Amino acid sequence: MSLYADYIFPVVLDVATKPLKPQRQQILAQAQGRVLEIGIGTGANLPFYSDKAQEIVGIEPELAMLKKAQSMVKKAPPHTQVKLAVGDAHHLEFTDNSFDTVIMCLVLCTIPSPLQALKEAYRVLKPNGELLFLEHVRSNLPWLSSCQNMLNPLWNHVACGCHLNRDTEATILEAGFEFKDIERYQHPKLVSVGGSIIQGVAIKK
Ligand SMILES: C[S@@+](CC[C@H](N)C(=O)[O-])C[C@H]1O[C@@H](n2cnc3c(N)ncnc32)[C@H](O)[C@@H]1O
Repeated sequence: MSLYADYIFPVVLDVATKPLKPQRQQILAQAQGRVLEIGIGTGANLPFYSDKAQEIVGIEPELAMLKKAQSMVKKAPPHTQVKLAVGDAHHLEFTDNSFDTVIMCLVLCTIPSPLQALKEAYRVLKPNGELLFLEHVRSNLPWLSSCQNMLNPLWNHVACGCHLNRDTEATILEAGFEFKDIERYQHPKLVSVGGSIIQGVAIKK
């Protein structure tokens, strides 16, 4: 697409999200069975899966990201099958009720229609299947959410479509999920405007 999006942004993304390593570990350790990771990016999550994840299918629309993810496949657990493909979260090319786990990690900030993507995730999950999420969202603190609103246009441009101010918690519920577990906190090692985090597990009932 562009020199910036293909070569510079993927490196910036990996460096900027390094402080989230413990949170990635917590989330990915819960993935089990047949797993779909939406917007797998550079494959930064692949080292954190356990062998409870029998098969990982990773989709990603950006070829440059997908190429980097391909080089990370060797870091997945040795007996886990990993398949990567170009794909769009808005229109998943998978049958209904076909995954045990869906991973959405730092993607609902960027996908143009998070609601459509979540409805698709819901569709492909088996009943009682789990959506594992780790997302930066709009802050509940009025001063911080004002800063997020103010900086959003610039951030959106620099961070390849990422939004600082989405109410992702509400959108997960709107798509039909129920929360099994959700934590909300301000990450101490991330820049404040991008550090309002939600992480947890939502269930398809
Ligand atoms: C901030 S990056 C996060 C990448 C990765 N999930 C991680 O945890 O490092 C956002 C990712 O969402 C992907 N993305 C954007 N629009 C998408 C769509 N419509 N469907 C699937 N992924 C999308 C981007 O290409 C990018 O790889």
